[in-house]
Amino acid sequence: MSRIYLSPPHMGPAERSLLLEAFDSNWIAPLGPHVDAFEREMAARLGVGHAAALSSGTAAIHLALEILGVGPGDEVVTSSLTFAATANPIVYRGARPVFIDSTPESWNMDPALLEEELLACARRGKLPRAVVAVDLYGQCADYDRLQAACERFQVPLVEDAAEALGASYRGKPAGRFGALSILSFNGNKIITTSGGGMLLSDRQDWIERARFLATQARDPAPHYQHSTVGYNYRLSNLLAAVGRGQLQVLDERVAARRAHNAFYRQALAALPGIGFMPEAPYGRMSAWLTCITVDPAAFGASREQIRLALEKEDIEARPVWKPMHLQPVFSGCRARGGAVSAGLFERGLCLPSGSSLRPEERQRIAARIAACRSRP
Ligand SMILES: Cc1ncc(COP(=O)(O)O)c(C=O)c1O
Repeated sequence: MSRIYLSPPHMGPAERSLLLEAFDSNWIAPLGPHVDAFEREMAARLGVGHAAALSSGTAAIHLALEILGVGPGDEVVTSSLTFAATANPIVYRGARPVFIDSTPESWNMDPALLEEELLACARRGKLPRAVVAVDLYGQCADYDRLQAACERFQVPLVEDAAEALGASYRGKPAGRFGALSILSFNGNKIITTSGGGMLLSDRQDWIERARFLATQARDPAPHYQHSTVGYNYRLSNLLAAVGRGQLQVLDERVAARRAHNAFYRQALAALPGIGFMPEAPYGRMSAWLTCITVDPAAFGASREQIRLALEKEDIEARPVWKPMHLQPVFSGCRARGGAVSAGLFERGLCLPSGSSLRPEERQRIAARIAACRSRP
């Protein structure tokens, strides 16, 4: 039996033929028509005006912060429960992250805590330069409330939708809720270009600026002239071709992951001590990863015992993100709240959720988890 991965790439025939077409056309060095088409198709799908295809989601966050003018001495407020890639670019800009705890309703940034933090900042006379909200594990944050708080204090909102392409909030797709929004096409995401990302906005000047910064900030001159420090952050034409093929099957990928989520719930929810990341009433999640919580006293085994039992059978499961306010690298940073995300880290486990996971595999995973009650 081969190893079951948490969220492996899932390619189809369209990706293969588009990639070969890009290869055969010799548009390899590195931009080309697939990059333009991928940007257009993604922007159209999400209903956002403009998009820049980039080498990673991290690069997209970095550029978003630069475009918003984040610099040394600034603070940027963000979610504590996330992958470090959300917070690292704040430090690249010389700014300091401030972490906000999750709400149990969605595991995303708690809007009431954001409001409290912005109010406290306003009273101190120094508002953060930006807020970066994360759509965790395929579920949107509560944007009506986050946007209202940001508008009240005139702080721009960035949406980190790296994990949530295919999810929606009040009928609108993830990736269109920030003044700038970002996506990731890293190998473990719902659709992948092996590595890649995108920056989206309704503001054309911002996306043009992102393309300029991402291609070494070359001034318009026949020779190489630079008045700004730039980056090498563009997505290659070959990878954009793969992304276009993946975008064609996004709805199928979401359906497969939601079906896994429904299966796990039906198979495990009745077990004492097992809970699930809730689907908030305001939206529809992509179920990028299905996450359970384990109360060891009620269940009879801890999440780590379950993880190790699965690992023994060559099944990959991962603890929920360790919150940023508990990370040694961010130990000097301010945090508002923290107990909710700390608890989710302690008890939370992400289960194999790839769209290519087979019914008999998920059956085996659920059976192994249930068996941990008697023999962890
Ligand atoms: C929430 C979140 N933000 C940002 C990123 C960074 O994306 P990338 O790996 O494409 O740089 C990831 C995942 O990798 C992520 O999960």
